Amino acid sequence: MFHVVDTEAFDRKRLDQLCELATAVRRVAKTAEGSRFLQQLLPTRRAMLYFTQPSTRTFLSMNNACHVLGIRTSEIRDPEVSSEVKGETFEDSIRTFSSYVDLIVMRTPEPGYAARAAALMDTIPRPVPIINAGSGRDQHPTQALLDIYTLERSFEDRGGIDGRTIGMMGDLKRGRTVRSLSRLMCHYEDVRLVYIAPPAFEIEPDIRAFLDSHEIAYVETGRLHEVLPELDAIYVTRMQSEHDTAGESANVDLSDFSIDERELAQMKPDAVIMHPLPRGREIHPRVDADPRAMYWRQERNGMWMRVALLATIFDSQDAILEADTRGLYRED
Ligand code: CP
Repeated sequence: MFHVVDTEAFDRKRLDQLCELATAVRRVAKTAEGSRFLQQLLPTRRAMLYFTQPSTRTFLSMNNACHVLGIRTSEIRDPEVSSEVKGETFEDSIRTFSSYVDLIVMRTPEPGYAARAAALMDTIPRPVPIINAGSGRDQHPTQALLDIYTLERSFEDRGGIDGRTIGMMGDLKRGRTVRSLSRLMCHYEDVRLVYIAPPAFEIEPDIRAFLDSHEIAYVETGRLHEVLPELDAIYVTRMQSEHDTAGESANVDLSDFSIDERELAQMKPDAVIMHPLPRGREIHPRVDADPRAMYWRQERNGMWMRVALLATIFDSQDAILEADTRGLYRED
């Protein structure tokens, strides 16, 4: 694995390997000795975190995932403090980062930039891997990885993701997490997707075409209460108002697309509630205390999954799996 620009980077074998590795990392990191072992795996590597769109958890989990493995990090989070304000092109900026580091993790407000950075790497003498940490409305492949890991962990006693009915709710038109997660579903057997959204924010035609071409069963509805009892998981998303061009978000009543006590009462007792976060009002804070609320664990899974991804890119996965298998750093 080299670049991670979109979900095409992953097949089922790779997804299963990354989930297994994330669990191994989690176990090894439980002890101080294990954490020190992980930190000495990649101390000579350096990463650039180039986030020109706001982020809390992707930035912090990627930064801390690097630190877990001993990778040192640099960052630019505001293009106003880079030489782009002097007219430097995007390509020249990326090439400059690659002169100093071994990996570039990037988030941009517009789609296509991670792909442009990866294409540039094919033309220069010292290419480095590019990881897309969110590209406009288009893709968020590492979020989809941690979502898959959270689903796998949630269903590990029920045969995993295969055969599950998974709802996705909210602003499905502009939500890149739903777009990326939907695409990864082509690697699982007999999954049924239920998209729940107001008419103005339904999934885009390209996602419908993808689902059809991969024969993934799905339905679309605006009626949450009719489908809630059948869901094994519901993936809730917020209104993506940062993409408004004419205040579209304000015209939609999201109260019909939210989770509170009434909805909890309708859900299966072992269903899981996920959310990529940050949330708006679509999940009431009192839902946090319900054992089905998985979004805080999902958020933490993001760091472990990103450690697994970095370890795989830099070929350290076998050392971690061996340490875990041999129980070298387990608590007594
Ligand atoms: N889920 C997610 O991408 O969160 P941030 O925008 O805080 O990184």
